[in-house]
Amino acid sequence: MEKITVTLGKRSYQITIASGLFEDPLSFLPLKAGNTAMLVTNKTLARLYLNKVRHTLERVDIHVDQVILPDGEQYKNLSVLEQIFTALLENSHGRDTTLIALGGGVIGDLTGFAAASYQRGVRFIQLPTTLLAQVDSSVGGKTAVNHQLGKNMIGAFYQPLSVVVDLTCLQTLPIRELSSGLAEVIKYGIILDAEFFVWLETHINELIDINPVAMAYCIRRCCELKAGVVAADETEQGVRSLLNLGHTYGHAIEAEMGYGNWLHGEAIAAGMMMAAHTALRLNQLSKLDVSRIRTLLIRAGLPVTGPKIMTPDSYLPHIMRDKKVLAGELRLVLPTAIGHAEIYTGLTKETIMSAVLDCQD
Ligand code: NAD
Ligand code: GLY
Repeated sequence: MEKITVTLGKRSYQITIASGLFEDPLSFLPLKAGNTAMLVTNKTLARLYLNKVRHTLERVDIHVDQVILPDGEQYKNLSVLEQIFTALLENSHGRDTTLIALGGGVIGDLTGFAAASYQRGVRFIQLPTTLLAQVDSSVGGKTAVNHQLGKNMIGAFYQPLSVVVDLTCLQTLPIRELSSGLAEVIKYGIILDAEFFVWLETHINELIDINPVAMAYCIRRCCELKAGVVAADETEQGVRSLLNLGHTYGHAIEAEMGYGNWLHGEAIAAGMMMAAHTALRLNQLSKLDVSRIRTLLIRAGLPVTGPKIMTPDSYLPHIMRDKKVLAGELRLVLPTAIGHAEIYTGLTKETIMSAVLDCQD
C-alpha cells in the first residue's frame, strides 16, 4: 500500500493507493459508526462499484444514501449539481454529512463543488475510478462545473478529507478512457520530471496493459508530483499554473466540439502538442523534444492534432476566456525542455494560432 500526504496544514490529507481498498472500512476513516454519508456516482459506476462501497460502509454502521447522476462530461453542469443538493435535502443531511465521490473526474468535480457549497461546506472523500482521476483530478481540491461558454468556469478550491485509489477499478475502464488518463500522466513528465518521462518512454506498453506494478508506480509518482505542487501553491498563484500545460488549447477543443465529444485527456494531448509547437516557434524547445512528446502521446493512443473542423480562429474566443488570462493578457504554459515548463506572457495571436496550424492534419 502506498500513502502520500498532501501537506496543507490542518487541511492536510492522505492519498492511499492499493488494490481492494473499496472493500476495506479503514479506507473511509475518520467516518465511524453512526455517521451519515451521501454516495455520489453515475449510472455506469453504480452498476460496477456502488454496492461494494455501500456494503463496506454499512458493515461498520455508517448510514449511506445515494444519488445516481447521468454519465458524461455534458452533465457536469449547474442543473445536475442541483440534483445532489436535492438528494441531500430530501434525505435531511446536515452539516455533519460526508459526500463520497465514486467515479471519474466528472463525478469528483461535481461532488467536490457540492461539498464546498452545501450548507457552506461539508466533508468529502474522493474514490477516483479512472486513471485520469487517480493521477490528477481527485488530488488538489479543484472542483467545478462547466458553463456553455467555458470549461470549469464555476467552482471552488475545496480539499477532500482523503483520496482512496483502488487499483482494481482500472480493470473495467475502457481503453479510450485509459489513454485519456495517460495524457495527464505524460503531462507530469513534460513539465516536472524528465526522469519520469524517460520511465514512461520505457514502460508505456505496460501501462496500456495495466501491468499492476508499473501502474502502481505510475500513479504514485504522479500523485507525489501533484501533491508537491499543490502544497506549494494551493490556489494557483504561481507554480500550479504549470499543471495546465495544454489546457488553454485543450479546453477550447472541449468547449467548441461539445462537451464529451473529445475526452478531456484527448483534448489535452492535442493541446500539449500545440503548446510544444508554440515553444518550438519561439526557439524555447528543441525539435527533438517536440518529437519525443509526439511519439509518446501517439504510443499512448492519443491524438496529436486538433479536430479537423476547428479553424485557428475558432480557438480564439475560448483562449481569451481562459482562467489564466489576467488584465486581458493571455498567459500560456509552454514546455522549455522535457521536465521543465514556464509561463509565457506577451505572445502574439499569430504565434498562438500558428501552432494550431502546425497541429492540423
Ligand atoms: P469521466 O469522469 O467522464 O469518466 C470517464 C468515463 O469512464 C465515464 O463514462 C465514466 O462513467 C467511466 N468510468 C469511470 N470509471 C470507470 C471504471 N472504473 N470502469 C468503467 N468505466 C468507468 O472522465 P475523467 O477522464 O475521469 O475526468 C474528466 C474530467 O475531469 C473533466 O471534466 C476534467 O475537466 C476534469 N479534471 C479535473 C481536474 C481537477 O483538478 N479537478 C483535473 C483534470 C481533469
Ligand atoms: N489539473 C490542474 C490542477 O489541478 O491544477
